[in-house]
Amino acid sequence: MVKRIIIANWKMNPISVVEAKTASRGISKIATKLKKTDVVIAPSFTHIPLVSLPKNVFLGAQDVFWDTKGAFTGFVSPAQVSSLGVSHVIVGHSERRALGETDEMVNKKVKAVLREKMVPIVCIGEKDHDSSGAYLSFLSNQIKSAFKSVIRSDFQKVIIAYEPIWAIGKEAKDAMNATKLHETVLYIQKILGEMYGRELSLKVKIIYGGSVKEENASDLILNGEVKGFLIGGASLKAETFNPILKIVDSL
Ligand code: PGA
Repeated sequence: MVKRIIIANWKMNPISVVEAKTASRGISKIATKLKKTDVVIAPSFTHIPLVSLPKNVFLGAQDVFWDTKGAFTGFVSPAQVSSLGVSHVIVGHSERRALGETDEMVNKKVKAVLREKMVPIVCIGEKDHDSSGAYLSFLSNQIKSAFKSVIRSDFQKVIIAYEPIWAIGKEAKDAMNATKLHETVLYIQKILGEMYGRELSLKVKIIYGGSVKEENASDLILNGEVKGFLIGGASLKAETFNPILKIVDSL
């Protein structure tokens, strides 16, 4: 059985370590009991060593630099987060791209994360879902650049998080429509198929992010045909995150 995966992207929240510990403890209570779903919690760098998670709940980072060590003031390397027990790293989130992260930088980070034997969660997503379909070639370019010169044996470890920017941080009713999501997933698989062959393109986990809540979780999984979620707002508290975990695990 291939497990689904749900990633809590805490972004720059919460402020205190006490709050982070409370949330991670609350989430772990349920996460540790799931049978068909892996859970990753990605806190801020400052909180990573301080949230203690049970063995079967994974620790994530929200970003990394591409070099291993050296004169890079203010940056954090893949080897450094790996040494803290991080197994998954979010790369190329739209909030970072909006601040200047380019496709080339995303590609370097993907390769650096793989070099450290961690799983890159590679974010892609268009700003506008135009009816003429221009967003499809935008997605295709993002995919081709992100995985440029990533070899097959590495590619099979990656997770692709499709996060349309227009659907992030809103109400559940504003999330992407599940049928539209399925169409986009098929398109992403087509592009991946051209790069790595059909079999591998169907194996790699494609997950969704953007206003995932308890109300839309089952529809997005079942009709959107995604293998999990990357969740921001609703992942900050056990009260809003755990119901989603339970729903997805029951499907
Ligand atoms: P959201 O964020 O769940 O708050 O929409 C998702 C994300 O940005 O990863």
